[in-house]
Amino acid sequence: MILEKNYKIMVERISAWRSTKQVVVLVSGDPCFFSYTKMLAKDIGRESCLIIPGISSMQLAFAAIGECWDDACFMSLHGRDTEYAELVKKVREQGKVGILTDHKNTPAIIARRLLENGIRERRMFVCENLSLPDERVHEADLISALNIKTNGLVVVIITKK
Ligand SMILES: C[S@@+](CC[C@H](N)C(=O)[O-])C[C@H]1O[C@@H](n2cnc3c(N)ncnc32)[C@H](O)[C@@H]1O
Repeated sequence: MILEKNYKIMVERISAWRSTKQVVVLVSGDPCFFSYTKMLAKDIGRESCLIIPGISSMQLAFAAIGECWDDACFMSLHGRDTEYAELVKKVREQGKVGILTDHKNTPAIIARRLLENGIRERRMFVCENLSLPDERVHEADLISALNIKTNGLVVVIITKK
Protein backbone atom coordinates (compact mmCIF):
# COMPACT_ATOMS: atom_id res chain seq x y z
CA MET A 1 0.00 0.00 0.00
CA ILE A 2 1.41 3.42 -0.95
CA LEU A 3 0.49 5.97 1.71
CA GLU A 4 3.02 8.68 0.80
CA LYS A 5 2.46 11.73 2.97
CA ASN A 6 -0.70 10.49 4.71
CA TYR A 7 1.05 10.12 8.02
CA LYS A 8 -2.13 9.96 10.12
CA ILE A 9 -3.54 7.11 8.04
CA MET A 10 -0.18 5.38 8.10
CA VAL A 11 -0.05 5.36 11.90
CA GLU A 12 -3.68 4.18 12.14
CA ARG A 13 -2.96 1.30 9.73
CA ILE A 14 0.27 0.32 11.45
CA SER A 15 -1.49 0.31 14.83
CA ALA A 16 -4.28 -1.87 13.44
CA TRP A 17 -2.00 -4.28 11.56
CA ARG A 18 0.81 -4.76 13.98
CA SER A 19 -1.02 -7.04 16.40
CA THR A 20 -1.13 -9.69 13.66
CA LYS A 21 1.51 -8.65 11.12
CA GLN A 22 5.00 -7.32 10.82
CA VAL A 23 4.80 -3.91 9.13
CA VAL A 24 7.60 -2.46 6.99
CA VAL A 25 7.74 1.30 6.33
CA LEU A 26 10.00 2.22 3.41
CA VAL A 27 11.43 5.71 3.14
CA SER A 28 14.29 7.13 1.12
CA GLY A 29 17.78 7.55 2.55
CA ASP A 30 18.35 7.44 6.28
CA PRO A 31 15.05 7.26 8.21
CA CYS A 32 16.74 9.05 11.14
CA PHE A 33 17.68 12.11 9.09
CA PHE A 34 14.75 14.54 8.61
CA SER A 35 12.43 11.57 8.11
CA TYR A 36 9.80 9.48 9.85
CA THR A 37 11.75 7.88 12.70
CA LYS A 38 11.06 10.66 15.21
CA MET A 39 7.29 10.55 14.68
CA LEU A 40 6.98 6.77 14.35
CA ALA A 41 9.11 6.06 17.41
CA LYS A 42 6.92 8.47 19.39
CA ASP A 43 3.58 7.15 18.11
CA ILE A 44 4.31 3.42 17.79
CA GLY A 45 6.97 3.14 20.51
CA ARG A 46 10.69 3.02 19.95
CA GLU A 47 10.97 -0.51 21.39
CA SER A 48 8.55 -1.75 18.68
CA CYS A 49 10.67 -0.42 15.81
CA LEU A 50 13.69 -1.96 14.12
CA ILE A 51 15.35 0.85 12.16
CA ILE A 52 17.50 -0.13 9.19
CA PRO A 53 19.22 2.93 7.71
CA GLY A 54 19.93 3.52 4.04
CA ILE A 55 22.51 5.93 2.66
CA SER A 56 21.41 9.50 3.25
CA SER A 57 21.19 11.93 0.35
CA MET A 58 23.45 14.14 2.48
CA GLN A 59 26.16 11.44 2.53
CA LEU A 60 25.84 11.04 -1.23
CA ALA A 61 26.04 14.81 -1.74
CA PHE A 62 29.22 15.29 0.31
CA ALA A 63 30.83 12.29 -1.39
CA ALA A 64 29.86 13.71 -4.80
CA ILE A 65 31.64 17.01 -4.11
CA GLY A 66 34.60 15.28 -2.46
CA GLU A 67 34.25 16.91 0.96
CA CYS A 68 34.05 15.47 4.46
CA TRP A 69 30.83 16.06 6.35
CA ASP A 70 32.04 15.51 9.91
CA ASP A 71 32.50 19.28 10.28
CA ALA A 72 29.28 20.31 8.51
CA CYS A 73 25.95 21.43 9.88
CA PHE A 74 22.57 20.59 8.38
CA MET A 75 19.06 21.84 7.96
CA SER A 76 15.95 21.04 6.01
CA LEU A 77 13.88 23.43 3.91
CA HIS A 78 11.82 20.47 2.67
CA GLY A 79 8.16 21.43 3.20
CA ARG A 80 9.12 24.39 5.39
CA ASP A 81 8.57 28.08 4.67
CA THR A 82 9.88 29.84 7.70
CA GLU A 83 13.41 28.68 8.17
CA TYR A 84 15.29 31.39 6.25
CA ALA A 85 16.51 33.25 9.33
CA GLU A 86 18.07 30.00 10.53
CA LEU A 87 19.58 29.38 7.08
CA VAL A 88 21.20 32.83 7.02
CA LYS A 89 22.56 32.38 10.56
CA LYS A 90 24.00 28.94 9.80
CA VAL A 91 25.61 30.02 6.53
CA ARG A 92 27.08 33.10 8.20
CA GLU A 93 28.54 31.13 11.11
CA GLN A 94 29.49 27.75 9.65
CA GLY A 95 32.00 26.67 7.03
CA LYS A 96 29.79 24.00 5.45
CA VAL A 97 26.00 23.82 5.49
CA GLY A 98 24.06 20.94 3.92
CA ILE A 99 20.45 21.73 3.06
CA LEU A 100 17.55 19.52 2.01
CA THR A 101 15.37 21.43 -0.43
CA ASP A 102 12.02 21.10 -2.18
CA HIS A 103 10.30 22.51 -5.26
CA LYS A 104 9.59 25.83 -3.47
CA ASN A 105 12.90 26.24 -1.67
CA THR A 106 15.11 25.86 -4.73
CA PRO A 107 18.84 26.59 -5.11
CA ALA A 108 17.98 29.87 -6.87
CA ILE A 109 15.67 30.97 -4.01
CA ILE A 110 18.28 29.99 -1.42
CA ALA A 111 20.93 32.01 -3.31
CA ARG A 112 18.55 35.00 -3.47
CA ARG A 113 17.84 34.90 0.27
CA LEU A 114 21.53 34.72 1.11
CA LEU A 115 22.41 37.60 -1.22
CA GLU A 116 19.52 39.69 0.17
CA ASN A 117 21.08 39.22 3.60
CA GLY A 118 24.49 40.44 2.46
CA ILE A 119 26.15 37.02 2.11
CA ARG A 120 28.26 36.79 -1.06
CA GLU A 121 31.54 34.96 -0.65
CA ARG A 122 30.24 31.42 -0.73
CA ARG A 123 30.26 28.46 -3.12
CA MET A 124 27.03 26.62 -3.76
CA PHE A 125 27.03 22.96 -4.79
CA VAL A 126 23.77 21.75 -6.28
CA CYS A 127 23.46 17.96 -6.05
CA GLU A 128 20.51 16.74 -8.03
CA ASN A 129 18.95 13.27 -8.29
CA LEU A 130 21.88 11.64 -6.54
CA SER A 131 22.48 7.98 -7.39
CA LEU A 132 19.81 8.15 -10.09
CA PRO A 133 20.50 7.92 -13.86
CA ASP A 134 20.05 11.69 -14.29
CA GLU A 135 22.33 12.69 -11.41
CA ARG A 136 23.87 16.14 -11.86
CA VAL A 137 26.25 18.00 -9.57
CA HIS A 138 27.28 21.56 -10.24
CA GLU A 139 29.13 24.31 -8.46
CA ALA A 140 28.40 28.02 -8.68
CA ASP A 141 28.92 31.29 -6.86
CA LEU A 142 25.76 32.75 -5.36
CA ILE A 143 25.15 35.25 -8.18
CA SER A 144 25.36 32.54 -10.85
CA ALA A 145 23.20 30.26 -8.68
CA LEU A 146 20.30 32.73 -9.15
CA ASN A 147 19.89 31.22 -12.65
CA ILE A 148 20.21 27.53 -11.75
CA LYS A 149 17.20 25.46 -12.73
CA THR A 150 16.71 22.02 -11.23
CA ASN A 151 14.34 19.17 -11.79
CA GLY A 152 13.88 16.56 -9.12
CA LEU A 153 15.45 15.85 -5.74
CA VAL A 154 18.11 18.33 -4.67
CA VAL A 155 20.61 18.72 -1.84
CA VAL A 156 22.40 22.07 -1.65
CA ILE A 157 25.77 22.48 0.07
CA ILE A 158 27.09 25.96 0.84
CA THR A 159 30.78 26.35 1.69
CA LYS A 160 32.97 29.33 2.51
CA LYS A 161 35.20 30.24 -0.45
C1 LIG B 1 12.05 14.33 3.56
S1 LIG B 1 13.73 14.53 3.10
C2 LIG B 1 14.32 12.90 3.39
C3 LIG B 1 15.83 12.81 3.50
C4 LIG B 1 16.28 11.35 3.71
N1 LIG B 1 15.94 10.89 5.03
C5 LIG B 1 17.80 11.19 3.52
O1 LIG B 1 18.48 10.70 4.42
O2 LIG B 1 18.27 11.52 2.41
C6 LIG B 1 13.62 14.60 1.34
C7 LIG B 1 14.74 15.46 0.74
O3 LIG B 1 15.94 14.71 0.68
C8 LIG B 1 16.70 15.10 -0.45
N2 LIG B 1 16.88 13.93 -1.32
C9 LIG B 1 16.34 12.70 -1.17
N3 LIG B 1 16.77 11.87 -2.14
C10 LIG B 1 17.62 12.58 -2.92
C11 LIG B 1 18.41 12.29 -4.09
N4 LIG B 1 18.40 11.08 -4.65
N5 LIG B 1 19.17 13.29 -4.61
C12 LIG B 1 19.19 14.52 -4.06
N6 LIG B 1 18.48 14.85 -2.96
C13 LIG B 1 17.70 13.90 -2.40
C14 LIG B 1 15.92 16.21 -1.15
O4 LIG B 1 16.35 17.46 -0.64
C15 LIG B 1 14.50 15.87 -0.70
O5 LIG B 1 13.63 16.97 -0.81
